[in-house]
Amino acid sequence: MKIGILGVGHLAEYLVQGAAGVEFVLSPRSGDKAARLAETYRCAVAESNQAVVDQCEMVLVCLPAATGLAILEGVQFRDGQSVCSAMAGASWDQLSAAVAPAEAFCAMMPGFANAFSAGPSLLYPGDAEWEAFLALLGPVHRFADGTAFETAAVFGAMSGASIFLLRHLVRWYERQGLDAVVARALVAETFRGNAEVLLQADAGLDEIAVGVTTPGGITEQLVGVLDQCGALAAWDEAMDGVLARMVPGR
Ligand SMILES: NC(=O)c1ccc[n+]([C@@H]2O[C@H](COP(=O)([O-])OP(=O)(O)OC[C@H]3O[C@@H](n4cnc5c(N)ncnc54)[C@H](OP(=O)(O)O)[C@@H]3O)[C@@H](O)[C@H]2O)c1
Repeated sequence: MKIGILGVGHLAEYLVQGAAGVEFVLSPRSGDKAARLAETYRCAVAESNQAVVDQCEMVLVCLPAATGLAILEGVQFRDGQSVCSAMAGASWDQLSAAVAPAEAFCAMMPGFANAFSAGPSLLYPGDAEWEAFLALLGPVHRFADGTAFETAAVFGAMSGASIFLLRHLVRWYERQGLDAVVARALVAETFRGNAEVLLQADAGLDEIAVGVTTPGGITEQLVGVLDQCGALAAWDEAMDGVLARMVPGR
């Protein structure tokens, strides 16, 4: 599999790290990052964005969300090419117009977790080649419905925000004097364990919540304070805001 990447920043680096074995052709900007990746992974650095597109049937777009569509409009794509964008908020319609006559696909993923092949990806619409690539980076969720994809894609922000939540909790333990390495492992293992519960248990979410909450116990106490402070409800407001930004009018 040979894939051209336009925009070699954080996301591109994570994906190159995770998709070992894939041959990449990288766009040349981004300081020494493209050259550094080329030293370690199966990557070549092209002379220009157009040269990336000229050499590859599959092109992955990791350009800045604010300018990416305009950058794509300055590149000539051809019939038979397949372009997948990971840019937050770039709709399939906009992408399709910018890369015509190439076929357009939209994806979303957490980024860093994909470097460890542990990050879920979303893909709209389905495509066997892009699914095969994304499957190297973690589980893949294929969408036939653009509206459902747009809703699910808010998880790009939810994922990033969860890192801030994890860091916040680690720092609380550190302030109490717990060893930083122990604190980091404890928080990470707790969330990983509970993620396994959601993935593996047959029980519904409410049943799981009841099962882990002793009446009058410490979980009930902690959740009660979070609720009083609006901490859980604030996630709704924040997720609504991201959805409205990514899909104006929703
Ligand atoms: N970071 C993540 O984990 C993540 C996860 C999911 C989706 N995304 C999406 O991925 C995209 C990239 O995010 P990022 O965090 O990787 O941003 P980033 O680190 O800023 O990377 C963007 C890269 O694009 C390069 N670039 C800018 N203009 C260019 C041009 N005209 N031609 C070629 N390259 C150009 C930039 O190079 P210079 O530094 O030289 O300007 C930069 O290295 C965004 O649209 C974001 O929504 C990111």
